[in-house]
Amino acid sequence: MLVFPAVDPIPLPAPIWLLKLLHIVTLALHFVAVEMLLGGLLIAVLLSLFRGSALSHVTARALARRLTVVMTYVINLGVPPLLFAQVLYGRALYTSSVLIGIYWIAIIGILMLTYWLLYRFSTRLDAGKSAWWVGLIAWLLAGSVARLLSTNMTLMLRPEVWRDMYSASSMGAYLPTGDPTLTPRWLLMMAGGLFIGGLWLVYLSARSTFTPDEQRFVAGIGGKVAALFGLVYLAAGFWAFSVQPDAVKAGLSAHPLYKFAGFAGYGWGILVLVAVLLAAVAGFAKISSGLLSWSALLLAVLVEITFTVFRDGVRDLTLLSKGYDVWDRVVVTNWSVVGLFLVLFVAGLGVIGWLVSVVARAQKTMEGAPSI
Ligand code: HEM
Repeated sequence: MLVFPAVDPIPLPAPIWLLKLLHIVTLALHFVAVEMLLGGLLIAVLLSLFRGSALSHVTARALARRLTVVMTYVINLGVPPLLFAQVLYGRALYTSSVLIGIYWIAIIGILMLTYWLLYRFSTRLDAGKSAWWVGLIAWLLAGSVARLLSTNMTLMLRPEVWRDMYSASSMGAYLPTGDPTLTPRWLLMMAGGLFIGGLWLVYLSARSTFTPDEQRFVAGIGGKVAALFGLVYLAAGFWAFSVQPDAVKAGLSAHPLYKFAGFAGYGWGILVLVAVLLAAVAGFAKISSGLLSWSALLLAVLVEITFTVFRDGVRDLTLLSKGYDVWDRVVVTNWSVVGLFLVLFVAGLGVIGWLVSVVARAQKTMEGAPSI
């Protein structure tokens, strides 16, 4: 019996390798922003509990002020991979999205509430008011969005349960149960949040808007959190890998690209370990420097790229084992549209670079200065 809906008769307008490349690049950037949000927010919440400590307060404020901006990146960098995923995996992804439709649509409302709470969190910190509970609610909501995304991204790989789910609820009100890969996969992203959030603090610690005392504190906290949760992240990665079906594990270990990207071929695992070492140096020696700062940023991006490539392998191999070959599509490339897209893509990156340079050149105020 055919488990996947029939393929769309309209051919793909661009080569599959190009769609996959763009999908992975944009999704890796989405993951960098997501991890900064999940980890940075929890660190800020914990620091905001120590209202008596000026250093904790300044660091929590510095994070909270940036989190509203990070959220814009989470959302805007989430849209392109969503479009590419729908093009490449629509028959699976649309089906799973419809099956959990109520929760899937609810993400929009949860996101708006989270966004508003992030502003409230930052404003309350600026005003010196108790803010931890506002930040905590925002974090719980963001974590629930992550859980729903993990739910959908794993449900799309399980055509064998779709029919029963639809029988149980055709309204999309029924969440799937019994998938051993779901919770490890979600917790892997949550652990990655504290790891990347810590690296983010190591990156921030070299900013001249912090006093030398604050720089040492920020590097110390960020480095220790990243070093500890880098190890947790590694363990969660092994766990998420170990619960995959045997055919998928064998395929991941045999495929040269996935072998290189994942810990079996040392890509992701080595990068996380290097980042843990760097973070431990920054954290325990309380050092902040431009070199450490930029290295932390580079490592965070590389870790997420290798992670995304490996995760893509999990999906493709799982779907292949159920009869869905992502490479098996009719392609009729419309080169003029592809060319126009690439020109606009590069122009868009240029505009973002210009925006970043404007922000970098803007007059700086010290992080600890009272808000205007
Ligand atoms: C609070 C906001 C958000 C959080 C915490 C979040 C978190 C996550 C997580 C944890 C995953 C990985 C799930 C897994 O594979 O286990 C994910 C994937 C994804 N997210 Fe987000 N996300 C957020 C917002 C968004 C938004 C607003 C969009 C789109 C408009 C988006 C688009 C995507 C897409 C398309 C994927 C998976 C793509 C793929 O596998 O091909 N996300 N997100």
